[in-house]
Amino acid sequence: MTQVHKPVLLKESIDYLITKKSGVYFEGTLGFGGHTQEILNRININGSVISTDVDLNAFNHCKDKFKDEHRVRLYNFNFSLIDVIAKIESIEFFDGILADLGVSSFQLDNAAAGFSYKVDTELDLRLNKSLRKTAADFINQESEEKIAQVIYEFGEEKNSRKIARRIIASRKAKNFETTDDLRKVISEITNPRYLTKTLSRVFQALRIYVNDELGQLKTFLENSVSVLKSGGRLVVISYHSLEDRIVKEFFKYENLSCVCPPGSPICICGKVKRLNIITKKPIVPTESEIENNKRAHSAKMRVAERI
Ligand SMILES: C[S@@+](CC[C@H](N)C(=O)[O-])C[C@H]1O[C@@H](n2cnc3c(N)ncnc32)[C@H](O)[C@@H]1O
Repeated sequence: MTQVHKPVLLKESIDYLITKKSGVYFEGTLGFGGHTQEILNRININGSVISTDVDLNAFNHCKDKFKDEHRVRLYNFNFSLIDVIAKIESIEFFDGILADLGVSSFQLDNAAAGFSYKVDTELDLRLNKSLRKTAADFINQESEEKIAQVIYEFGEEKNSRKIARRIIASRKAKNFETTDDLRKVISEITNPRYLTKTLSRVFQALRIYVNDELGQLKTFLENSVSVLKSGGRLVVISYHSLEDRIVKEFFKYENLSCVCPPGSPICICGKVKRLNIITKKPIVPTESEIENNKRAHSAKMRVAERI
């Protein structure tokens, strides 16, 4: 792997995460190991970090990178399985949990990883290659309505219907196989001025759908709270509004101690407040970080603390 991924909000995220130098930490999005390495730099000899990534390339890369580091244990699991990983490791509670969502620069920029519309490669977009359906399967098999809905909902692309219509017309002649097949069809109906934005929205939508990224994020957040020690921090860095909204709403809900209808004489909901919100507004990268790492421009970090 020649392409380097620069970790985003590295100092800020680990400053919030580490509350105990001998703690046990969970990193759900290992990638190139940037955040995992920084956790190791800040904990002491008795601390440890358990990190996972669904992408086998990332997992294998880090297995080698951390081969001499006894304080790390690595998994090739979805982060939504944090509770299962805790059981395997016989850990009741983590001292802190981190997720740096989305995909790494390597996944985006390298043809072999199959995530970019910029290079012609198989139209796959699965982070976990054992998932049943690729992006090509989805657009070759689904209805026009479903394709338009996914592009609209997960890509926030207003021309979703037009794009879906064109995909259906095109696949009658030949199935979609490569990223170029899809790029060509979209270029035919998009003003060149908006092409890059449209392509990234469509590819983002397909990636989110194929990997059920939003569903896995919701499960991860829910499961994290039950394995986070009182006083421990849950730190989440997101890169688009759909992810950030889920994190924000989840923190808001877990911050409430009652969800009874307004005006109820007594509380009957049984709701328990489980999180305190630490960052009232999301933390964003400094201008100089964005200058040095363009991937950082859309990052938003939210932090909550387990009660
Ligand atoms: C932005 S990168 C993380 C980069 C990492 N923090 C670093 O500094 O090198 C996100 C990583 O999370 C992984 N990922 C995305 N969704 C995941 C999920 N549901 N479970 C586990 N890993 C996931 C991706 O494969 C990718 O390697």
